[in-house]
Amino acid sequence: MSLTTCNIHFTQRSGNSVYLSRALRTALQMENQKTATIKIGQKQTQCPIRTLKKQGKHLYIPTFVRNHLKIPRSGNCYIQSVHGDEIQLGPVIGILTSSANRTPSQPFGKISPLIHQYLKVGADKAFYFAFSLRDINWQQATVSGYFISSGGWVRRTVPLPDVVYNRLTSRRVDISDSTQNKERFVRNGIPIFNWSYFNKSDVYHLLEGEPESKYVPESHENPPPEKIKAMLEKYQTVYLKPTGGSMGKGIFKLTYQPSKGYFCRFRRDGKNVLLRFNRFSRLIQLLNRQDLRRYIVQQGIKLIEIDNCPIDFRFHMNKNGVNQWVPAGIGAKKAGRGSVTTHIKNGGQLLTPESVLSRFFGQRADEVLEKTKDVAIRLCEAIERKYPYHLGELGFDIGIDRNENIWMFEANAKPGRSIYKHPMLKTQGADTLKHVFEYSLYLSNFHVKGDA
Ligand SMILES: Nc1ncnc2c1ncn2[C@@H]1O[C@H](COP(=O)(O)OP(=O)(O)O)[C@@H](O)[C@H]1O
Ligand SMILES: [Mg+2]
Repeated sequence: MSLTTCNIHFTQRSGNSVYLSRALRTALQMENQKTATIKIGQKQTQCPIRTLKKQGKHLYIPTFVRNHLKIPRSGNCYIQSVHGDEIQLGPVIGILTSSANRTPSQPFGKISPLIHQYLKVGADKAFYFAFSLRDINWQQATVSGYFISSGGWVRRTVPLPDVVYNRLTSRRVDISDSTQNKERFVRNGIPIFNWSYFNKSDVYHLLEGEPESKYVPESHENPPPEKIKAMLEKYQTVYLKPTGGSMGKGIFKLTYQPSKGYFCRFRRDGKNVLLRFNRFSRLIQLLNRQDLRRYIVQQGIKLIEIDNCPIDFRFHMNKNGVNQWVPAGIGAKKAGRGSVTTHIKNGGQLLTPESVLSRFFGQRADEVLEKTKDVAIRLCEAIERKYPYHLGELGFDIGIDRNENIWMFEANAKPGRSIYKHPMLKTQGADTLKHVFEYSLYLSNFHVKGDA
């Protein structure tokens, strides 16, 4: 297999002969081949191949072949020869996302600018586009995809892709409505990475029995009152969290002080609330207004603090072009005063991990950061081991306690990007986009090895 890049030209010629420049033939190790199977995404056709005198690596494709293969654009792309008689163009990479509120300038609603940023990384290197479920035509085995253009977006029909990156933004669509389509990709041999949103308990289950489970605070699903009480007696502070929740919604922080009773902190109508109860039965009355069957009770961790406000970290993890996990972006988040969580929306503040760790651990800050990165990588590898789908991206909420123990609170399969608003984290934000593209190349068997 030999991989290179080429410049595609569309010609008006009749017939189905495809012309390759000499340099391209040499690069593909196809000097004397007379016919070849040309493949793009899930489409292919057999064509006579001929040689053309021109400097550089060029490929001339006649209208018939272009239309049959649904080649979406001319210009630069990767090309490789497989088994000596196949030429593969591409790869065709689709980002699956939501199209609620579609307009011509925002085909994917308010996530459109982000999708645009993803595509920009590889638009001139591969056939990189975005689509939503309704853009797929299974009968024709095509997708009506959105490509970026100088002014915004252009719509082109492409073959079913070589790989799909799932960036659906609705939990409901991702977990139920889209399943049949996603399974159909898999049945067609199309790898799809980041299958769906995770629930907190899904991730804890994936880690069960793995040595890395020691990084998850003790947690119990669907806790009966006795369990909550026992956990409070054991740890004094516990968190009650909806297993399918996000953004700190529905979280309660409970504290038990034998001499003072039970304290309950949570957020209501945009404000932080603190209530005290003498008796556990009173506390449970309040908590029972929630459906605790969908909650987990979790050991509370005494996080490192600055100005009495707890700090935790977002580790944005990506698979790279050689299938290895890298901590691509790391932000520190300081909780707002009185807030149960560190979310910026709840008054939290964004900081760099270096600034926080040096304040707390002084000279040893680097060492602590390196150790936490290693743990994050090991957590990714452990989660991936039992997970039946490809995973290319994970966002961990990670805490460090005063004894330097590392704790993982949750793993997001669609990590948000708010940490990249910090001016010092912008480059890392760009790195995460690059990794998604390079991992897509890897999954589609275009092994570019770092020089993409
Ligand atoms: N067990 C815990 N101990 C201490 N702090 C916690 C614990 N669980 C959550 N937190 C704090 O609350 C934040 C939100 O919790 P998380 O599990 O990430 O839920 P969400 O899905 O709402 O983001 C965390 O980033 C952390 O700051
Ligand atoms: Mg979180």
